[in-house]
Amino acid sequence: MFGRYEVVRRIGRGGMGVVYAAVHRDLKRDVALKLLSPDLALADHHRRRFSREAEILARLESTHIITVYDAGAQDGWLYIATQLVVEGDLSALLETVGPLSIPLALELIAQTAEGLADAHDSGVLHRDIKPSNVLVRRDRHGRPHALLCDLGISTLLDADHTKTGGVIGTYGYLAPERHEGVEASVASDVYALGCLLWALLTGSPPYEGTDMEVALGHLRAPIRQLEGDSSLVEQTNVVLARSMAKRPEHRFQTAGELRQAVLAIVESMDRPAADAGPGRGQGSGLGSGSTATGHGAARARSAALRELVVVAGLGVLALLVLVLVLGRLNGS
Ligand SMILES: Nc1ncnc2c1ncn2[C@@H]1O[C@H](COP(=O)(O)OP(=O)(O)O)[C@@H](O)[C@H]1O
Ligand SMILES: [Mg+2]
Repeated sequence: MFGRYEVVRRIGRGGMGVVYAAVHRDLKRDVALKLLSPDLALADHHRRRFSREAEILARLESTHIITVYDAGAQDGWLYIATQLVVEGDLSALLETVGPLSIPLALELIAQTAEGLADAHDSGVLHRDIKPSNVLVRRDRHGRPHALLCDLGISTLLDADHTKTGGVIGTYGYLAPERHEGVEASVASDVYALGCLLWALLTGSPPYEGTDMEVALGHLRAPIRQLEGDSSLVEQTNVVLARSMAKRPEHRFQTAGELRQAVLAIVESMDRPAADAGPGRGQGSGLGSGSTATGHGAARARSAALRELVVVAGLGVLALLVLVLVLGRLNGS
């Protein structure tokens, strides 16, 4: 037991603490319990950062950001209890199934972009967008639902954080200007989202190697592009180019803009004339069949239509039988 929580198992470990699956004793609600150990909690800046995450989560209300239930201190440990996502994060998903199909990757990016836009609208920068900080669960209809988590190093847009200085965030997803000491911004979050799209499509961040090589990649190497010439690949490459542009002013200006661009591709896949041949990065994943977008959605709709016809047919048949039986009864 940990206070009012019964700890079930460990589900994650990150920079600041350990995350457990737990159950609230009285409410019987499943939660994810993120703990900051007493030795870390001794340091003032750790305590502040940890508590700020709970506060920030509490003020964000978004379909695509994890919901916080409770936070506090227990036996010297600081804790945050949030909505539990048993399915896990995108990094684990990539490890198990490899690169995702373009439609599924776009769907997840559109959702993550919505969460990020909601954070930005509330004046909060995420600052650490990467696969392990996006959880994916299945909704009631079995469709993937992305939820941003880990706002531990997020900052308020209007806060004066120049004093804290230093680069925090993951090198693989860190915008070029951040490697030159420029503070995090909406533009650097948008850049990281572009890198996340690349990682979902290929299984790896855009630039790899030593910290220096990765930094140089972000600063100078060409923006990563998928191979292939289908219209789906071409449109996805435009989104990659505009989110990972080297100069902040050349990027989508907001996460909402990025989302709109991604949704436009998804809609164009729904149009029958669209050429949506496979490109690089067409991995197995949850499979395009399981996504709510593109051909998946079109297929789902025609399947639903078929089901409707079958159900209607069965209804008419049942009515006929009833009329016949009633007729017989009347006659006899
Ligand atoms: N609500 C949750 N449901 C399921 N798993 C979670 C949840 N929150 C975190 N995790 C898992 O724990 C890992 C670490 O949590 P995170 O909040 O990212 O902390 P850190 O600051 O330590 O990176 C995540 O990458 C994820 O795998
Ligand atoms: Mg994390």
